[in-house]
Amino acid sequence: NRLKAMERPLLSWYEEHRRILPWREDPKPYRVWISEIMLQQTRVEAVKPYFARFMEALPCIGDLSEVSEDELLKLWEGLGYYSRAKNLKKAAKLLVEQYGGELPASYEELKKLPGIGSYTAGAIASIAFGIPVPAVDGNVLRVISRVIGSKEDILKQSVKSGIEEKLKAVMPKEAASSYNQGLIEIGAVVCIPNGAPLCDRCPLSSLCVAREKDLTGVIPVKTPK
Ligand code: ADE
Repeated sequence: NRLKAMERPLLSWYEEHRRILPWREDPKPYRVWISEIMLQQTRVEAVKPYFARFMEALPCIGDLSEVSEDELLKLWEGLGYYSRAKNLKKAAKLLVEQYGGELPASYEELKKLPGIGSYTAGAIASIAFGIPVPAVDGNVLRVISRVIGSKEDILKQSVKSGIEEKLKAVMPKEAASSYNQGLIEIGAVVCIPNGAPLCDRCPLSSLCVAREKDLTGVIPVKTPK
């Protein structure tokens, strides 16, 4: 099984090459949540100063639940997609009211919160709580569809769900955080879009069908709707 064979090279590569990032070195649930929401549409380097300011101003879920619209807008200004910030506050209120002010250590419960979809729920569950569930974003879709040589349209929900299922079946129960972050990291710095991946530096290149068949310019397939 090609996907099962990713585990060792992926984990050793991540161990050696992981970037030191503020939310990685201290992966408290609240920090992981805020960072993942910021990282959805914004690059790591741009997120760093926003993340630091946000944590300084609102160090816990209770603070976020009570922040004024004005201050929230100021903290978010420049990141764009302000609905993300509004959902954060909405979720924080709900967490204070219904969960004792803490994020639940459950993929299914996390997914019910405003602004948290399958990717973010998987990221928080695995990185903050060590729960073995996948965290499949666009980066991971690209890496996996290349490794397995799939020409299916990654914009289809069914294709994303299929990849989530496949990963869930092979991911290590004891290293979910590093496994998911390793895949995200490879997608971000090695297996980059637009047919120019840095396969020479990729720990998965010897397993990769797209590389073997010279299809990295074709895969991932995204059919415009
Ligand atoms: N992009 C999305 N999630 C990330 C993470 N945890 N680390 C680095 N880049 C990311």
